[in-house]
Amino acid sequence: MNYIKNKLFIDKFSVDKIIKKFGTPSYCYSYDELKKNVLNFKKNFNKINPLICFSVKSNNNIKILNELSKFGLGADVVSKGELLAALKAKINPNKIVFSGVGKTYDEIDFAIKNKILLINTESLSEILSILKIAKKKQKRVNIGLRLNPNVDAKTIKEITTGKISNKFGLTETEVIKIINQYKKSKYLNIKCLSVHIGSQITNHVPYLKMLKALQNVIDKSKFYFEYIDVGGGMGINYNNSRQILNYKKYSDKISKFVKKNKVKIIFEPGRSIIGNTGYLLAKIIYIKDTTKIRFIIIDAGMNDLMRPALYKAYHRIIPTKKNRNKIFKLHDFVGPICETTDKFLTVKSYQKLKEGDNLVILDVGAYGKVLSSNYNLRENSKEVLIKKSKIFQIKKRQKIEDIIQ
Ligand code: LLP
Repeated sequence: MNYIKNKLFIDKFSVDKIIKKFGTPSYCYSYDELKKNVLNFKKNFNKINPLICFSVKSNNNIKILNELSKFGLGADVVSKGELLAALKAKINPNKIVFSGVGKTYDEIDFAIKNKILLINTESLSEILSILKIAKKKQKRVNIGLRLNPNVDAKTIKEITTGKISNKFGLTETEVIKIINQYKKSKYLNIKCLSVHIGSQITNHVPYLKMLKALQNVIDKSKFYFEYIDVGGGMGINYNNSRQILNYKKYSDKISKFVKKNKVKIIFEPGRSIIGNTGYLLAKIIYIKDTTKIRFIIIDAGMNDLMRPALYKAYHRIIPTKKNRNKIFKLHDFVGPICETTDKFLTVKSYQKLKEGDNLVILDVGAYGKVLSSNYNLRENSKEVLIKKSKIFQIKKRQKIEDIIQ
């Protein structure tokens, strides 16, 4: 993304022209950015040749998943729907892991039928369910045990998952007990120890603590795990600052870990692969000036992008046409939804805007479209992908008639 003569371009396409053709609100993704992220991720961990399972919950567009499968990526799924999407996108079942605390009988059955790599289990009750289904099918099912390492990921409270107060995973004691009970099971094949401590992590230290917790389980259980699934969580730079997570320190420590334990590493990144590749294109409907605040009312709402309302998440908003006329007044960029939290950003000053101008909300590729809803009975936004000097529509805008039927 860059400005040429004050006009915004994404991969050589004028954003105003994209908007003219596809309308607003629309999500627009850059294939070039996606490729860059995948190659960077691989480069950061090239010493250990990991299996990279893209976290489908961050973006489940089939075309995007299909592009990722062409880069050799697998998938981390948390529902039958996500598993179906991954299979439809031609992701190899042998590269799919299934996590989540509440997998139903039907979901487990479907996962076994499709011969995926691993079902990462999160409770003893779930293990008993899998055992029951495996017995019925007379099959030995590959499972992982998800450890709750009780490590603080030092990220937003709402997206922390590795503390003992969080619903995820099993304690060290439980993991060891399960290993001792089921290591010779005819129906369960314990292949993996998995963990995921949270999302938007910007400090490498929690990751080092997490590795230590994994090592403790390996040492205490004296069990050989073929795979160690370290989850995802790598943070991105929403405020355009410099690289924030020290990949080198994390990668060095993992390399040592692999050497010592002779295991294969699985990563489940979502945001770090897709986050900065997505743009939400919107149009200003009205500008409403009050004594203190200038409300910029745009045609994208919290139903299109939930992150600011849900986590007070910060996303930059930039104009498609730049000018030098700055207005020094509090600006609130808001959507049309009847909720006060339907607000994307507040800034102290902004360039002069007018009704009908186009704006772009940045870094919305992860947990953007997937969290959208039909609240206020609004249709879901369109999705387009820029790839090799072409733009493809990769998801139609919903029709109101279809939603209300
Ligand atoms: N693996 C597991 C088991 C997960 O629960 C998650 C994310 C990931 C991998 C991928 O994490 P990532 O690399 O994307 O950080 N809606 C929130 C984020 C929720 C993350 C949920 N789990 C947001 O918009 O920030």
